[in-house]
Amino acid sequence: MTDQDELFVRGEGDSWFHRNSAYLNAPVRVTDDRVMKVVELARLQPRRAVEIGASNGYRLDALAKRYGCSGLALEPSALAVVQGRRTFPGVRFVRAVASELPIATGVTFDLVIVYFVLHWVGRSRLLQAVAEIDRLVQAGGHLVIGDFHPPAPERVPYHHRPGENIWTYKQDYAALFHATAFYDTEMFAAFDVGAPTSATGALAGASTRGAVTLLRKRTRSSGEEGT
Ligand SMILES: C[S@@+](CC[C@H](N)C(=O)[O-])C[C@H]1O[C@@H](n2cnc3c(N)ncnc32)[C@H](O)[C@@H]1O
Repeated sequence: MTDQDELFVRGEGDSWFHRNSAYLNAPVRVTDDRVMKVVELARLQPRRAVEIGASNGYRLDALAKRYGCSGLALEPSALAVVQGRRTFPGVRFVRAVASELPIATGVTFDLVIVYFVLHWVGRSRLLQAVAEIDRLVQAGGHLVIGDFHPPAPERVPYHHRPGENIWTYKQDYAALFHATAFYDTEMFAAFDVGAPTSATGALAGASTRGAVTLLRKRTRSSGEEGT
């Protein structure tokens, strides 16, 4: 685990949850949710959904209620997991970071969600996180990636822990998956995340452009075609 991953396991994930729990438990969180909207617009019918950095699992609960799918929440914050288990008993929770997912090889999901999480993954483990996420997506299944989406990659200090060498890394994360040629983009929407908030950890002056991308995993990668 990197220092930055460990920081979220050891307490920063709890701090984020604590700061945002009222918002996370408000009904508007689901009715205004861009991921729910993408799933609806793409007419997906998920059967097995997993969210990495799922917080208290509110989105998986909403998906389960709307589509009858199962929901697995992977989240480093103990507080979010305890509250989520109590509030959303239909969602299964496992404490984990994106770069080390405790899911057996070969277990896959038809809907994988990673929303505003990768900007906090330590850079030395970013590609490991990408590989871990990729292995959970079943062939022909969908991956929803949302995050900051500045015109060029940005690294800004995480303002809740000033002077501690902790960063928010803003870049186009869907591009990492797309570059493998394992995925096709089915939907893309850019938006402004708004003024810096405790939820985003963004700094004034830094980019507040966000985006959500719906990717579909190919049943064969383009490199395999014709072989
Ligand atoms: C900005 S919140 C987003 C929560 C949720 N995805 C949503 O859309 O409401 C980021 C979440 O990622 C979690 N997180 C932080 N570092 C992580 C890591 N390395 N792997 C997985 N989750 C992480 C935090 O604890 C927090 O719950």
